[in-house]
Amino acid sequence: MAERLAGRFIGLGITGSIAAFKAVDLLRLLRAEGADVQVLMTPSATRFVAPLTLAALSQRHVDAEVLDLLPDGRIGHVITADAADAILVAPATAHWLGAMAHGLAADVVTATCLATSAPVVVAPAMDGDMYAHPATQANVGILRDEFGYAIVEPESGALASGQVGPGRLADLGAIVDAVVAAVGSRPIRRPDPADRPPRLAGHATDALGRDADDLTGRHVVVTAGGTAEPIDPVRFIGNRSTGTMGVAVAEAARDRGARVTLIVGMVSVPLPGGVEVVRAETAVAMRAALGRVLETARGRAGFDALVMAAAVADFRPSAPADRKIQRTDSTVTLDLVPNPDLLAEIGRLVRGVNDEGAPTGRALDPRPFLVGFAAETGSLARAAEKLAKKRVDLIVANDVAEEGSGFGTATNRVTLVAADGTEDALPLLPKREVAERILDRVVAALDARDGAAQTGAHDPRKETRVP
Ligand code: CTP
Repeated sequence: MAERLAGRFIGLGITGSIAAFKAVDLLRLLRAEGADVQVLMTPSATRFVAPLTLAALSQRHVDAEVLDLLPDGRIGHVITADAADAILVAPATAHWLGAMAHGLAADVVTATCLATSAPVVVAPAMDGDMYAHPATQANVGILRDEFGYAIVEPESGALASGQVGPGRLADLGAIVDAVVAAVGSRPIRRPDPADRPPRLAGHATDALGRDADDLTGRHVVVTAGGTAEPIDPVRFIGNRSTGTMGVAVAEAARDRGARVTLIVGMVSVPLPGGVEVVRAETAVAMRAALGRVLETARGRAGFDALVMAAAVADFRPSAPADRKIQRTDSTVTLDLVPNPDLLAEIGRLVRGVNDEGAPTGRALDPRPFLVGFAAETGSLARAAEKLAKKRVDLIVANDVAEEGSGFGTATNRVTLVAADGTEDALPLLPKREVAERILDRVVAALDARDGAAQTGAHDPRKETRVP
């Protein structure tokens, strides 16, 4: 795919709208188009999205303070203004539109726009009534008609206020298209890196040279450990899972820059810092926790990837006793009912289909990447069946009968079975390294997904097909 902004230097101005979180994806899309990006933020924008995330993705310090100088003493917003091939302001708040229309340069975004002769693209996002107000409309008119800025009109849809109407930040692909159009075929203004703000030194890579930040801006949900299904207040049905594999995935995702939510059942390994831990002891509790964490309201996915490493009990006692069952000499019979298959439920939800594969609603957009585990003893054939049945993208098949692999071991020998039919048999590896290999797949799939979304090749309605 040709990079439409290769070699271009783009100023990305972010102002304090709830939609500021989308600027993370916007930055990724600009970078995927080959752009070198300087992020500019108003003070309120920094309360909606962490500058560290944007710095890691852009590999530059974020310019959020109009009075700060660059480390070499140059004035950051003037350097950006002079070097930029375009300035994109997204999302633009009502307040920022007003400040810009009247030249009030109290923040770096306005100051950079005032100082530049590069084209400026503005994508407003706000409550519908705020956008419709004559003051806002007049300000938009000044930017468009008097300054010649390209306005990417907000879309209609559900707004953070609970209203439905115009005001939602335009489709990110359309915003990138507007930047590409604004830049046109002009020569690159300042190709010499010395004429641009400095890049962060020593961008982090891990021991294998992998980009240590390749999950920055992603929300990765991991389940780990075994569930405990109560028989009575003191006894439960459990399994041999220790949580080692899931915890290794959570740690590796954290170290690669992801926001990580770790949902844990019974675990016998220490839990990592720097991740959000949610406890869920039973399959039913884990289901509820997943429901909350995945935040799939209105067809939007609240996560980018789910790695389902938990050993979820397939059955639970139908009616756990509320008092400890007393010892007697007679036989005790437990009545077990099946637990829901959590991963299969999420697989259906993500693709918007029912058990038979018929569409029931919208597939989640953007589509998250689902990873399941399959504990097998021998053949891999069942792993491929599970992949199809649960509608996941990758199954980590693990021969638990093999020495050095499976429950409570420090190593694992797994085969990665993918939805495209490929199988990758990995050697016996430390669980942390297995985690890295799984996350390599997650990164590749998410980057491909976002690249496709940006060129319009991705159509979530076509994703309802069963793999
Ligand atoms: N899983 C799940 N909910 C269940 C059972 C399993 O979400 N009730 C998930 C596991 O976390 C794992 C995958 O499904 O990622 C495969 O689990 P496994 O026990 O190997 O498969 P089952 O579907 O339970 O099939 P079987 O027990 O017959 O092998």
